[in-house]
Amino acid sequence: MILIAVVSMKGGVGKTSTTANLAAAFAAQLGEGRVAVLDLDPQNSLHLHFGLGTGLKEGVCRQSLTSANWNGVSFPSKFGVTCMPYGEASEPEREAFEELLSEQPQWVWEQLARAGFEDDHVVLIDTPPGPSVYLHQAFACADVAVIVLLADAGSYATIPAMESWIDEISAQRPSLVSVYVLNQIDSTVSLNRDVSEVLRQHLGQRLARIGIHRDEAVSEALAFQQPVLSYDPHCQATQDVKRLAGWLMESVN
Ligand SMILES: Nc1ncnc2c1ncn2[C@@H]1O[C@H](COP(=O)(O)OP(=O)(O)O)[C@@H](O)[C@H]1O
Ligand SMILES: [Mg+2]
Repeated sequence: MILIAVVSMKGGVGKTSTTANLAAAFAAQLGEGRVAVLDLDPQNSLHLHFGLGTGLKEGVCRQSLTSANWNGVSFPSKFGVTCMPYGEASEPEREAFEELLSEQPQWVWEQLARAGFEDDHVVLIDTPPGPSVYLHQAFACADVAVIVLLADAGSYATIPAMESWIDEISAQRPSLVSVYVLNQIDSTVSLNRDVSEVLRQHLGQRLARIGIHRDEAVSEALAFQQPVLSYDPHCQATQDVKRLAGWLMESVN
């Protein structure tokens, strides 16, 4: 099982979209039944990218509270990606789940193994922004951390906090690969170009050569409840995501 955690210190940078779109790109490369996504964000929006609709209530939060197998909340989608939503949860349920996660730091890994995800599976984990029990869980099991950044001063300012997390985790798990990925790149904006350059100098090889351009098709795809690859197979974001998925796969293997 290859586990890819999609993380950031800031919200609204494109973690959920990137998780969904990368998963669809992996599924297109690897074939049906090999790729799954796990939503560890109480916002519970990842499944919407896979046409699984607003009526879906079940998810890993409540499933964990009854110690039920996560395969009961693994929903196949028509995009070749299996989706495990966070699910609907009341405030007390969310708190109880978070308590469980803080008491059992390997919970997510254990549940994925128990649900039957095997060596040939790729599982992408979406997380809420900033430090949380969800980020701890994702980092405790991830092979790769994809850190999503915007080419702006706000994202730049979050790098030291993310680096200290990664240093701490890498001390315990030296095999963790971490890559920064720029999202919503707009090379017509000069500030965007400048910040990209500073980021490249600061992060060197750890900033992926391939970023994802700002492309309206990404938000339109969500409105149509599908990954951008399926919504517009020829748009810029689709090309970027496919290349990024190929590059990530090579970096892991
Ligand atoms: N490459 C992109 N081009 C255009 N819009 C994007 C892109 N990536 C994300 N967005 C939009 O940015 C907003 C935030 O994205 P989202 O994936 O929900 O971020 P996060 O999960 O980090 O909060 C959404 O409206 C999404 O459609
Ligand atoms: Mg999100």
